[in-house]
Amino acid sequence: MPQKIRFIRNNKIIKIDEVDSNETLLNYIRTKLKKTGTKEGCSEGGCGACTVVLGDLKKNKIIYKAVNSCIMLLPSLNGKQLILVEDLIYNNKLHPVQKSMVKFHGSQCGFCTPGFVMSLFSMFKNHKNYDDKIINDSIAGNLCRCTGYKPIINAAKNLNKINNSDHFSLNNQKTIKLFKLMKKTKKYLLSEYKNKKFFSPTNVSELRKILENNPNSEIISGGTDVALKITKELKTLTSIISISSIKELNFFKINKNFIEIGSATPLIDFQKIIKRYYNDFYEILLRYGSVQIRNVATIGGNIATASPIGDTLPLLLSLNARIIIESKKNKKTVPLNKFFISYRKTILKKNEFIRSIIIPLLNKNIFKAYKISKRIDDDISSVCGSFNIEMKNDIINNIFIAYGGMDEIPKRAINCENSLKNKTLSESSINLAIKKLEKDYNPISDARSSSKYRMKIAKNLLMKCFLEIKDNNNYRINEY
Ligand SMILES: Cc1cc2nc3c(=O)[nH]c(=O)nc-3n(C[C@H](O)[C@H](O)[C@H](O)COP(=O)(O)OP(=O)(O)OC[C@H]3O[C@@H](n4cnc5c(N)ncnc54)[C@H](O)[C@@H]3O)c2cc1C
Ligand code: FES
Ligand code: FES
Repeated sequence: MPQKIRFIRNNKIIKIDEVDSNETLLNYIRTKLKKTGTKEGCSEGGCGACTVVLGDLKKNKIIYKAVNSCIMLLPSLNGKQLILVEDLIYNNKLHPVQKSMVKFHGSQCGFCTPGFVMSLFSMFKNHKNYDDKIINDSIAGNLCRCTGYKPIINAAKNLNKINNSDHFSLNNQKTIKLFKLMKKTKKYLLSEYKNKKFFSPTNVSELRKILENNPNSEIISGGTDVALKITKELKTLTSIISISSIKELNFFKINKNFIEIGSATPLIDFQKIIKRYYNDFYEILLRYGSVQIRNVATIGGNIATASPIGDTLPLLLSLNARIIIESKKNKKTVPLNKFFISYRKTILKKNEFIRSIIIPLLNKNIFKAYKISKRIDDDISSVCGSFNIEMKNDIINNIFIAYGGMDEIPKRAINCENSLKNKTLSESSINLAIKKLEKDYNPISDARSSSKYRMKIAKNLLMKCFLEIKDNNNYRINEY
């Protein structure tokens, strides 16, 4: 028997008996809860109109995350607190975020407004001060076509003057008690309805077993890729295994040689850790989707999609990352450059999953990465280039270059790398290496960019990397 799904809303635990695992949270909110403040725009996580906030209990503290409810499957709500735009009003008074939006005229047609309010509410709960960087990051996943961003940004800045204690803070202890009451079940079959199953194991040994017995299931982690199969491709997924409740897959292990990251670690947590070691990696993650996407999308999910434009992939390839793949009977470590086979195909078998990712820490190397996209925020790459260079006595002792957007899989530029090894880092050696990129890649033309443009960017990025190193006149720019 599947269990009931439980969540907290407005200081109550709500149970749902029958859950269609292919239903989105947004659909549930609008059609079952009949709360229509939350809007539907794109149904693919791109506009932010459907933003809601989920609370979760971590180490006795409630953590608030803005998410796109249009690409979140309803069973993912289990064990969480759901906060909708309607829930911000308390004692018939607007929430400070709502008041600020009114005061600064942050709304015209109003369609985007509930989403902006929820993104700003999440910012309000997660930060103490709101500078330009925090504000821009917080609303990068919300589109407004009529007000313009200035009044919304002014409304956000005004929150600096307001104490961020609100009725959620007042009810904090009560909500924590409800979280504890809503004990997570031991049953891993979360829902079974109309021949659609949703498994939510809480440990790796359950996961191995479920995968072995249900090999045709779809693993879902953050769901920012999988959910689109339902909302955009209109497919029905009959067996889904969610790995987001497995603590063993959400961890960091750091020593002086490497960082190991659990595959189900959300990118928002990963970005804080990687910042200490590879700042360019962090800067690229800041431009990855939006806060709503990074709050749920995971590093393992990004790798397993094998997307040629997956942003972390060229970076991980140039850093010689390895992944640990596991099944019921087997555990192996594979270099990431052996993982991708062809367009969106990997060596992963049906009963296998990615357990973790190992990133070497190369404190003496120069590491640089660049993402080129049509917009700075919330846009996918045309080309993403990553460079990891080991210098020895002014000679390039080793170099690892990888690009995304240049082939059917993200891959290393082996010919280019070979032409630079044991050379000085000079304009002439770079000019020779640039030509080798034509041997390494044959990019396609699509709506995003032409083949010629992609090749031009790839060449320019290599030159940019060289010029930046030359300008710094310092090979050890990656020290920590
Ligand atoms: C609005 C929007 C913006 C986006 N912006 C970007 C961007 O800027 N850059 C970018 O690179 N991508 C972007 N994406 C794509 C998407 O976010 C990534 O592909 C994401 O990293 C997938 O992670 P996830 O945890 O959500 O994966 P899921 O959707 O849960 O899963 C993706 C795939 O990986 C498999 N999988 C997941 N975890 C594992 C595991 N541990 N073992 C085995 N298989 C696994 C699943 O079965 C599925 O096939 C965007 C997506 C959206 C909707
Ligand atoms: S409806 Fe556009 S992000 Fe959800
Ligand atoms: S107020 Fe109309 S889209 Fe933002």
